[in-house]
Amino acid sequence: MAEELFIDSSLTKDQKYESLLPQIEALITGEPNLIANLANICSVLRYGFDFFWVGFYLNTGKDLVLGPFQGPIACTRIPYTKGVCGHSFTTKQTVIVDNVDEFPGHIACSSASKSEIVVPIFNAKNEIEIILDIDSDQLSSFDTTDQVYLEKLAKLISNTLPV
Ligand code: SME
Repeated sequence: MAEELFIDSSLTKDQKYESLLPQIEALITGEPNLIANLANICSVLRYGFDFFWVGFYLNTGKDLVLGPFQGPIACTRIPYTKGVCGHSFTTKQTVIVDNVDEFPGHIACSSASKSEIVVPIFNAKNEIEIILDIDSDQLSSFDTTDQVYLEKLAKLISNTLPV
């Protein structure tokens, strides 16, 4: 396991993802504990990009429950049909929200959150097992670059899930 994260703050967003994804892979390779891996991934994303909140919601079979995260305290449980997380869950798609105040049904865990990206993570049966949620305190922080790289990250996490 890598002991230290290397982040060059002068890099562009693409370059940061290119640099951080292999470091995440090194961090989680060989470690079978999902919670430990998700916790470290939150730290990489939170400190790598200075996002306001980074966390995972886990599919319990009944709803989405808060998993490892970095940032202020957040809503513990989210119904499948509620909020941006629920929208991602029901559509099985990544959702980018430029302005959370304009998203009908957005669940505001913090009034400081202004924009958001939510990425579903699938198991081998193509069921959503985990939801990655990232919040920014700036409007329109997320674009297709984030989507492309975070979906790569989602695949990386998927590959660690038990079959
Ligand atoms: N805003 C999310 C809820 C989770 S928090 O952002 C941490 C939503 O609308 O689903």
